[in-house]
Amino acid sequence: MEQIGGGDARWSLKGMSALVTGGTRGIGHAIVEEFARFGAVVYTCSRNQKELDECLEEWKCKGFQVAGSVCDLSVRTQRDKLIETVTTYFDGKINILVNNAGTTQLKEATEFTAEDYSPIMGTNFETSYHLCQLAHPFLKASGCGSIVFISSVGGLIAVPVASLFAASKGTMNRVTKNLACEWAKDNIRVNAVNALP
Ligand SMILES: NC(=O)c1ccc[n+]([C@@H]2O[C@H](COP(=O)([O-])OP(=O)(O)OC[C@H]3O[C@@H](n4cnc5c(N)ncnc54)[C@H](OP(=O)(O)O)[C@@H]3O)[C@@H](O)[C@H]2O)c1
Repeated sequence: MEQIGGGDARWSLKGMSALVTGGTRGIGHAIVEEFARFGAVVYTCSRNQKELDECLEEWKCKGFQVAGSVCDLSVRTQRDKLIETVTTYFDGKINILVNNAGTTQLKEATEFTAEDYSPIMGTNFETSYHLCQLAHPFLKASGCGSIVFISSVGGLIAVPVASLFAASKGTMNRVTKNLACEWAKDNIRVNAVNALP
């Protein structure tokens, strides 16, 4: 029997549409590939056009159906535009939203400045929350929606020099439960993966 991720026939995402933020590197890149390998059509975004183009070319060569565009998710108007573009691409339905893009800074709590606050809380929490709001009607329209927050063990337990990051991910974990309860009636599952560095 083939391994999961190698095309195991018991698992399929054929016919599914997925938006994965921050798919050009790291965990997001792996999620895009795994979803595509299981047959999903995937849309992704990042801030670097060159890196995005290289990834899209690589995925095309592998036979994956992946599209993408540049978007700075920390800018609200760019998030609006992204969802508009994605829903046009997916014909008004999104099955899966993965809030993966994130950022961090490691410092003692006494060292964080006013300027540090917004990029971390904005990219990790505000962006993800807003994308859920924007995607909600399209996840609902799919009849079978799923949101996955890529969170962190740092949002569950105290890890050194990561208090702001921990706050952003802890908030994400909290909101996962709220949205799961609010949107169960719309057939939208909401989960968080608490990744370990
Ligand atoms: N790796 C770990 O050990 C670990 C552990 C716990 C939790 N996590 C969480 O897992 C997620 C992914 O982590 P990773 O280590 O794989 O990250 P990564 O390698 O740094 O990749 C981050 C991805 O997000 C994109 N991105 C970042 N900020 C963005 C923005 N403002 N707008 C659009 N795209 C943006 C990046 O592209 P551009 O920079 O080109 O925009 C890149 O594609 C994050 O939420 C992180 O907090 C990771």
